[in-house]
Amino acid sequence: MESTNIYEQEKGLALIDHQNYPEGIKEYMALEEAFLLQHLQGAKSLLEIGCGDGRYLEMLAPVVAEILGIDYAEYLVNVSRNRTKNLPNVNVIHGNAKDLQLLLSKTYQYATLAWNTIGNMPPEIHPDVFKGLAEWVEEKIFISTYQCSDAVMQERLKLYDNCGYQVNSINGNQVIMEDGEHTAYAYPINYFQDLMVSNHFSMETYELGFCGVMIVGTKQDFR
Ligand SMILES: C[S@@+](CC[C@H](N)C(=O)[O-])C[C@H]1O[C@@H](n2cnc3c(N)ncnc32)[C@H](O)[C@@H]1O
Repeated sequence: MESTNIYEQEKGLALIDHQNYPEGIKEYMALEEAFLLQHLQGAKSLLEIGCGDGRYLEMLAPVVAEILGIDYAEYLVNVSRNRTKNLPNVNVIHGNAKDLQLLLSKTYQYATLAWNTIGNMPPEIHPDVFKGLAEWVEEKIFISTYQCSDAVMQERLKLYDNCGYQVNSINGNQVIMEDGEHTAYAYPINYFQDLMVSNHFSMETYELGFCGVMIVGTKQDFR
């Protein structure tokens, strides 16, 4: 386990605490929650990659028959397990999204990476993450991420400021914080198009306010 993951520490919770969200990110989160609730209503099974403190595991448990949460921060896996301990249809495991073939033994109808989880992963692992999704997801993947614009960057910087994080530098849409301990990326939509198409997903996008976008990949052999 790398010690450079900010989510390994209690202060990582500040980043996923709604109270710290500036207005644009609040709107993004509210629209993301509504989107996932609507599209996952009645689902048979869901894989949530980067489940964090388990807010979606809890929120979606009443509408999805079976949910598996995965996170590589042991600290947050424990928070999620505790939060969902009375939900028999939810399980949480510790692991890295790039290793789905080692972590899973069955396929899931859907998968989601919410709240810019994709942007919290270094781009080097994206090919393995998408390859794993193509192998272990039957129908659709729901990936929510930041849009790329100056206005969104201002909102992201407000969030880090509200959390008391020190931003070291900004490189395009990438924010480097806390002495390089944490790097948050955002990518233009065509970046995902290539990853989706090369892994046999077709792609549709839905704006979530001015800050966010939900990218939906549908397995081509599912249609
Ligand atoms: C921005 S948080 C989102 C948490 C949650 N999905 C939510 O919407 O509240 C990103 C999460 O992804 C996890 N994460 C980042 N990279 C990961 C990886 N390679 N494998 C598994 N989890 C990862 C982090 O530990 C963190 O919990």
